[in-house]
Amino acid sequence: MNVLIVGSGGRESAFAWSIAQSPLLSNLFVAPGNPGLAGLASCVDLDWRDREAVVHFCVREDIHIVVVGPEEPLVYGLGDFFAEHPNLQHIHFIGPKAEAAQLEGSKDFAKAFMMRHDIPTAGYRSFGADELEAAKMYVLSYDGPYVLKADGLAAGKGVVILDDVVDALKELDAMLGEGKFGDASKRVVVEEHLTGPEFSVFVVTDGERYVLLPQATDYKRVGEGQTGPNTGGMGAISPVPFVTPEVLGRVHAEIIQPTLDGLQEEEIPYCGFIFFGLMLTADGPKVIEYNVRMGDPETEAVLPRIDEDLLSLLIDAARGQVNTRPAAVKRESAVTVVLTAPGYPGAYPKGLEVSGADVPSEGSLLFHSGTALRDGSLVTNGGRVLAVTGLGSTPEEAKQRAYARVDQISFEGKQVRRDIGTIYGWPLKS
Ligand code: AMP
Ligand code: GLY
Repeated sequence: MNVLIVGSGGRESAFAWSIAQSPLLSNLFVAPGNPGLAGLASCVDLDWRDREAVVHFCVREDIHIVVVGPEEPLVYGLGDFFAEHPNLQHIHFIGPKAEAAQLEGSKDFAKAFMMRHDIPTAGYRSFGADELEAAKMYVLSYDGPYVLKADGLAAGKGVVILDDVVDALKELDAMLGEGKFGDASKRVVVEEHLTGPEFSVFVVTDGERYVLLPQATDYKRVGEGQTGPNTGGMGAISPVPFVTPEVLGRVHAEIIQPTLDGLQEEEIPYCGFIFFGLMLTADGPKVIEYNVRMGDPETEAVLPRIDEDLLSLLIDAARGQVNTRPAAVKRESAVTVVLTAPGYPGAYPKGLEVSGADVPSEGSLLFHSGTALRDGSLVTNGGRVLAVTGLGSTPEEAKQRAYARVDQISFEGKQVRRDIGTIYGWPLKS
């Protein structure tokens, strides 16, 4: 089989690493990919937005299956394009079409879907741009913290949590009144504030049944001790100690199955990954958000723990032949640490020379995220530069192995959190 992975980050690097091990694989392509994939896959200078080039490439290389990493191509209908184009229809496409991708692409759509299907989530109200005054009245009607969410995709920045009501009113002005996040904040969801530790549950589904992948939790804030601004993710661990079989049982019965049943009831087909962003509240697990893809850096912690052929699993999903079951999982623990450019998640320089990346170290994997080659040397080319995964028989060993590898790599101003693996917010305070 010839496989095309769409994307360029650490998540796509982990997909490539995993799929490259499949006996079913013939040729592996990643568009656009990154220099860390050398030897694993061919990187292709192909932009998914250029539909003509996509058709040309897939036909020329006889692609059998497309695996989409990020949400944007899905929300903007790449799946619909494959389903409808006569030369692409035969290709297995892993990722939902635009309608189902609204589970991630529109917070308002996702909340209304959860309400219709009785899926536990924070209470909310949703306001359009012409309802600024009503939104303000609503915020004034209760005590904070106030959770304000831009409806559309906002590159992970669209959620603002404020304690003070005056700040919340100002933020509503900025989002709804002044279009702070462009079209994404023409509608704003105002949500009940929940507390509890967060975790992520991933499934591969054919829209009816699902294979449960290992759980993970990511470290979103830039600073140690969960301080500073939100990022795409500074690290991840898998498994997650507080996700007991009992918690998972509730997640299955109250969240995953009702989501799949709801999609079927509404006749919305789905093939691909669903990433349930959850919070373990005192009332049980609740949905914070749906994503229609895998997480980054969670994928770099999750895939190395899967003890089966990912490509075969994805083909089963595309053929509608999935049985509901947990994936076979290794007993190992994984700890993933992200190395970022100085200044990230704010403005950061690119082109910093990276050294020590190609030195292997026991029980560790390196996934490139934002790197490039300049005159034959590896340089930084993004905010999140590299992700290192340590694997071990205990979480402590995994952590030690991850940081041993992290410490071998250097570039000017390298930022890492040293506390990946620490569990915050658990046990719950009563
Ligand atoms: P999201 O982009 O929806 O993942 O939100 C970003 C982060 O905001 C989440 O990971 C949570 O830490 C936090 N968050 C989102 N919604 C809520 C909520 N209703 N209550 C408390 N925290 C939230
Ligand atoms: N790490 C969070 C995400 O991928 O959305």
